[in-house]
Amino acid sequence: FSLGHFLGWRKGIDLVAQPTLISPHGGSLVDRMASGADADALRQKAADSPKIGLSAKQVCDLEMIATGAFSPLEGFVGPEDFTSICRDMRLSNGTVWPIPITLAVDDETKATLSEGGTAALHHPDGTLLAVIDIESIYAHDKALEIPNVFGTEDEAHPGVKAVMDEGEWLVGGPVRVLTTEPESGDAERFETYRLSPAQTREAFTKLGWSRVAAFQTRNPIHRAHEYLCKCAQEICDGILIHPLVGETKPGDIPADVRMKCYETIIEHYFVADCTMLSVMPAAMRYAGPREAVLHALIRQNYGASHFIVGRDHAGVGDYYGTYDAQLIFNQFGRDEILVEPLRFEHAAWSHRAQGMVSAKTFPKIKDDQVFLSGTKVREMLSKGERPPGEFSRPEVADVLIEWASSTAATA
Ligand code: ADX
Repeated sequence: FSLGHFLGWRKGIDLVAQPTLISPHGGSLVDRMASGADADALRQKAADSPKIGLSAKQVCDLEMIATGAFSPLEGFVGPEDFTSICRDMRLSNGTVWPIPITLAVDDETKATLSEGGTAALHHPDGTLLAVIDIESIYAHDKALEIPNVFGTEDEAHPGVKAVMDEGEWLVGGPVRVLTTEPESGDAERFETYRLSPAQTREAFTKLGWSRVAAFQTRNPIHRAHEYLCKCAQEICDGILIHPLVGETKPGDIPADVRMKCYETIIEHYFVADCTMLSVMPAAMRYAGPREAVLHALIRQNYGASHFIVGRDHAGVGDYYGTYDAQLIFNQFGRDEILVEPLRFEHAAWSHRAQGMVSAKTFPKIKDDQVFLSGTKVREMLSKGERPPGEFSRPEVADVLIEWASSTAATA
């Protein structure tokens, strides 16, 4: 008789351990949504406050704060956190945080605001979304932010360009959010897939998952993506396929097309019981290594214990080394970032091995592996040709061909 059996028998308690989920980053899940009387008071406050019109990126950030996906942040960062994040990848209290979440405003808007006051935050369509308690108004130090966060000051970098285009002032303080939904509607909300961190956590608990791998993606799913997800499934209870559907750069494939690809591949090639598809409403920054850390912390908040980081994660162009986004995690202690990065080498189909391989699992043989550039794939799709089955599942290729032909028709 083990002690466990004995205690279970004596006290009649259920000793079958309930799976425990990973703690949110910083210890507890933030919830900045207001409801009931609280919301009514907030609407009143908003009516008496100056307005800030949010950009698409800021709308995304607001939702991430509201639902706790950015825990422990309760609002837009103030000057101490801004400086400390840019310089050291930490909040001023030492908690790891790699990219400042800022509310940038222009001179004209800044002139209407005052520290200690409030402001009403509006969606570009005019919907009142939230109220911010303004703790600080400070100069937007782009010369500190850009080279630190992006590792480059090249304006051809889409993340650099986005910050360059922002206002010269930052407003810091906690937010209280009334709604994350614009009144004009949002074609890319994917309501049934839009689970908050509290909802994914509840779902994992119901499924009995505690070892959950999360997969970040902003591209249509190809064979290497599928391989990474399945390797992770082998060692975890399940996978959360978690495409980013917030703002992306022009040229990226629209989120609704990508979602159709994920639905299709899951239907044909995944085991439903071990696979969950949900969307992640953050904006893409293309900040490579720093964004990999942000993506990992976000997924920890959603309840993932493991996070896939492959080659050139969140990269763009040639700004980052192939594995920089993996190496950056070595700078932090295991008790500082609880979610475990699952590092993957560049994977591709090998004709000789008749399967997906990487430099770690199969020797390099000339012309053996299937590599296709994005440009080549697009060229094929626009001609109505499926890329080879070793690169993309045919059912997924067909979704993309349909999209390419409809955009060609409307172009
Ligand atoms: S990202 O901007 O979200 O990183 P993408 O959707 O292409 O872009 O990648 C999703 C994840 O898959 C990232 O972790 C990326 O590093 C990884 N990845 C993409 N292609 C490969 C590949 N061929 N081999 C290994 N990892 C890959």
